[in-house]
Amino acid sequence: MDTQKLEKTFTELFGEAEPQIFFAPGRINLIGEHTDYNGGNVFPAAITLGTYAAARKREDRQLNFYSLKLPEKGVISVSLDHLEYKKEDNWANYPKGMIKFLKEAGHTIDQGLDIVYHGDIPNGAGLSSSASIEVLTGVVVEQLYDLTLERLDLIKTGQKVENEYIGVQSGIMDQFAIGMGQKDTALLLDTHTLEYERVPIKLENEVIVIMNTKKRRELADSKYNERRSECEQALKELQQVLPVSSLGEMDEAAFDAHQHVLTDETLVKRARHAVYENGRTLKAASALKAGDLQAFGRLMNESHISLRDDYEVTGKELDTLVEAAWKQPGVIGARMTGAGFGGCAIALVGKTQVDTVIEQVGKQYESAIGYPGEFYIASISDGAKEWKEE
Ligand code: GLA
Repeated sequence: MDTQKLEKTFTELFGEAEPQIFFAPGRINLIGEHTDYNGGNVFPAAITLGTYAAARKREDRQLNFYSLKLPEKGVISVSLDHLEYKKEDNWANYPKGMIKFLKEAGHTIDQGLDIVYHGDIPNGAGLSSSASIEVLTGVVVEQLYDLTLERLDLIKTGQKVENEYIGVQSGIMDQFAIGMGQKDTALLLDTHTLEYERVPIKLENEVIVIMNTKKRRELADSKYNERRSECEQALKELQQVLPVSSLGEMDEAAFDAHQHVLTDETLVKRARHAVYENGRTLKAASALKAGDLQAFGRLMNESHISLRDDYEVTGKELDTLVEAAWKQPGVIGARMTGAGFGGCAIALVGKTQVDTVIEQVGKQYESAIGYPGEFYIASISDGAKEWKEE
């Protein structure tokens, strides 16, 4: 993305002195969906679609936030002394929450700042635009105020903003991928221990296509929280007979042998997804390391089916995209990515067939749903950092 517009807007709003420029990516998740709050494995990667910020410290205690993606909201101004959540502060609650929690953790932030955000992650598309703003703000503040801040603490602060400030009980995957990503590698993360491995994604003859349903993710947050509490309930019941601290600790055989203790068919389905998806994630990472893309693709497909039938977070739009993709020659695998309930899916596609796949899936989607989807080719990017033109 061209950062000139960002800098120009910054000087128009806040005067001539030059700002510093920062970047945080969005993310896709290759596989391992709805496993991160169950102590399981995830396999995300940062992407080049992301959020940029131009920022400068102020002499007083005022924080001025502006977004080129939501110019109609104008400059949102708050004081460093009043960082509590306020509905009318809209999107600026994400950066406010970050600054509040970093201050509370003992970091010295005693001057205000001016900051302009811009980005090319489509909003609400399940590519983590909110985690991108959180982690970006953390990196801005870290650099402008010279904080000594471990990257993992910054990542956890982003998750805390979602959980305690915004009220979404999300796991750590998004902030982790955005904070730790590296060009051309995915992160195999064990969300229980936070140990991770960088797995190179060297696709020579294939590309990852992001397919956006463009469906607004209505009620997505409350349904997300509902899934999480269903998993907690299932765990509680399984703990009557098994000494496990999370669903991620169980393997498929243990689950199959004990699932009869669950009191409700919905809980069986939710827990089965969490346990089996975790196993699939490890298998998929091994397949990728071994260069077996066909096996990887099959696991992607199985993941989608489980999210559709057991976890029930796909919906008509995502299913239409993914099922249309499955039928196309050249598609090695396809699945929804992120929380679901709308948002995006991904497909692993042979390079030579990609144009036809996009055209065909696009056509079928529009005729089934009534409006067009959107398609992007994903490039795997570095995590959040100060931005230097290459
Ligand atoms: C959202 C959350 C993540 C994760 C995914 C589903 O992106 O923020 O923590 O739970 O959904 O895998």
